[in-house]
Amino acid sequence: MTLTSMTGRVAVITGGGSGLGDALARLCAASGCNVVIADVDIDRGDRVAGSINAAGGGSALAVHTDVSNRDSVEELAKICHARFGVCDYLFNNAGLAIHKPLVDTTEEDWNSLISVNLLGVSHGIAAFAPTMIQAENGGHIVNIASMAGLVPLEGFGIYVATKFAVVGLSEVLAAELAPSGVSVTVACPGWVATSIQPTDPDVPQPSFPPEMSRVIAADEAARIIVDNMLAKRLHVPTHPEWGDAVAKRSKALLEAFSA
Ligand SMILES: NC(=O)c1ccc[n+]([C@@H]2O[C@H](COP(=O)([O-])OP(=O)(O)OC[C@H]3O[C@@H](n4cnc5c(N)ncnc54)[C@H](O)[C@@H]3O)[C@@H](O)[C@H]2O)c1
Repeated sequence: MTLTSMTGRVAVITGGGSGLGDALARLCAASGCNVVIADVDIDRGDRVAGSINAAGGGSALAVHTDVSNRDSVEELAKICHARFGVCDYLFNNAGLAIHKPLVDTTEEDWNSLISVNLLGVSHGIAAFAPTMIQAENGGHIVNIASMAGLVPLEGFGIYVATKFAVVGLSEVLAAELAPSGVSVTVACPGWVATSIQPTDPDVPQPSFPPEMSRVIAADEAARIIVDNMLAKRLHVPTHPEWGDAVAKRSKALLEAFSA
């Protein structure tokens, strides 16, 4: 399948008002999709939708949505179905990051990351998957995890916990939805130039070895994710050079079985 096969389809992007979600929304629209941009920051969502509509191609609608609230995501699905019809491509992308040693984290830190990064994904699946299955259009659910869902990054403990969970649930979802024809992709980007990176001057910036430090543009990450979604690949790492870190973890895990 190619990007042209997306013409006339419907894409929903949570967190579509900024960064990777913004890039995914623009790419889907440029490929001919009608796009729903769901963001808790409606000004950002409106800006992205406005510029897509001004550019022509597919049309875009911004919907105020809080992915941590199940009712809000159910309402998003109703609006999407009424305006454009069944969703073909659901991108569960909205996410937050906290850079803090685990011993310093608060209950509020845990609640906010779990409710957006993990429950936000489950709310998207609950609100959209039943209609996608029934429609028999062979839709796709794309969950945006992270390399932090494959490699335990020091200083990002809660983020790692939520992203490992998203990888695990996506693998289960892929198996469960396979008979229905709805495909599942779990994207694991390395660093992407967006506004998610921590900027707190009191917290030292994270530092990683060179092979885990490359930053790519959001447009490039979106292109890798959509190409691999269309190829129906389950796991989509955007930064191949992180493979060594994944192998190191897997090796240590396997060695534990024969210890
Ligand atoms: N930037 C990176 O380096 C990187 C790397 C790996 C994975 N990711 C993942 O990519 C996804 C997108 O992140 P980004 O880097 O583009 O960040 P970003 O901060 O630029 O964009 C996130 C968007 O999500 C929205 N959002 C936050 N909470 C929300 C909520 N409760 N409901 C709806 N929308 C909400 C924000 O308003 C914002 O528009 C996240 O899941 C993130 O974990 C990012």
